[in-house]
Amino acid sequence: MKGTLVPLMARAKKQIAKRAAAREERSGDRTVATNRRARREYEFLETFEALILKPRNLDYKIQFTGPTGTNAVEAALKLARKVKQRSNVIAFTNGYHGLSAGALAITGNRHFRNEAFVNRLDVSFMPYDGYFGEGVNTLDYLRRFLLDNSSGVDVPAAIIVETIQAEGGVNVARLEWLRGLEKLCREFDILLIVDDIQVGNGRTGTFFSFEEAGIRPDLVTLSKAIGGLGLPMSLVFIAPEIDVWKPAEHTGTFRGNNLAFVAATAALQFWRTSEFSAEVARKGRILEQLLSEIQARHPRQQLRVRGRGLIYGLQMPRPDLAKAVSREAFRQGIIIELAGPNDEVLKFLPPLVIEEATLRKGVSTLSQIVASVLK
Ligand SMILES: Cc1ncc(COP(=O)(O)O)c(C=O)c1O
Repeated sequence: MKGTLVPLMARAKKQIAKRAAAREERSGDRTVATNRRARREYEFLETFEALILKPRNLDYKIQFTGPTGTNAVEAALKLARKVKQRSNVIAFTNGYHGLSAGALAITGNRHFRNEAFVNRLDVSFMPYDGYFGEGVNTLDYLRRFLLDNSSGVDVPAAIIVETIQAEGGVNVARLEWLRGLEKLCREFDILLIVDDIQVGNGRTGTFFSFEEAGIRPDLVTLSKAIGGLGLPMSLVFIAPEIDVWKPAEHTGTFRGNNLAFVAATAALQFWRTSEFSAEVARKGRILEQLLSEIQARHPRQQLRVRGRGLIYGLQMPRPDLAKAVSREAFRQGIIIELAGPNDEVLKFLPPLVIEEATLRKGVSTLSQIVASVLK
């Protein structure tokens, strides 16, 4: 447990419990909530440490931020800038990181950017893996900008990346590209932030989406499914050597929701064995197979399938066709979101615990809808 907040929490828990008990005696039960919250928070941290961090040999410190994903992104950016004392951050084309000011600045889509009439400064956008098609390694492009003292791109405090750009159209970064990105960060003394808000929590089959690439980001943001039942919770994982926050330097009133701690601790039990992970991978293979069959049925339409684990995208030839599929699916009881720069990608994001039969039935219905829309 060395190097994480857990020992600190244990000490804090004892102190809080002691003080709360004393206060309780003096003033009735007003402080009981504080006491309980510390206990739930501690249980969550202890479980997370035991089931997720330790088995992966990760020694991150954990920070609770405001309740939604964008809050975690803001905290990670602020800390990275403080550590490196640099203002610039590099983000990628088609990236999505949330809609508060700092997170919006590093989000690519004009649909969101155009509606916020504030400065979106201190960011340079670089091409994500595959942006110029196969055969172009976009890291070479990025490297050239970093090497050149006169490129006009300031060496950033951090590079922030999604291993799979979910909102951006289910663009999957190759594992070797991610490894190359990490290497580049080390070479230029830049912090690497992985935004795992949408594809962490087991979505790709491993708890963190970057595990398969074998990289160790300096900062990781996590939210969404970590709350267990859809309850609000956001976290930043911080490599111990860059935890330069002063006490309560980045804080706020609502940081950690008691009910979410309980639900999150319960949901983490899925990670006690390797069965859950193996099941996600197995169902992911089924999903890929079923979507490839849909693709093969419409060779002239050039549908494209991409994804990993239980996140897949089916790129339609035109946004209006994708919209028509999504509308009809909704009418038939299936929610399927659209993603991509022009909402042209059907985003398959089933619950990780979906049963195989339900998965097959859902994709079969969608296959019929796609066929009727494309005919
Ligand atoms: C990768 C990623 N980062 C950040 C966010 C922002 O999270 P929230 O909508 O909870 O603010 C999202 C939301 O979809 C996301 O997918």
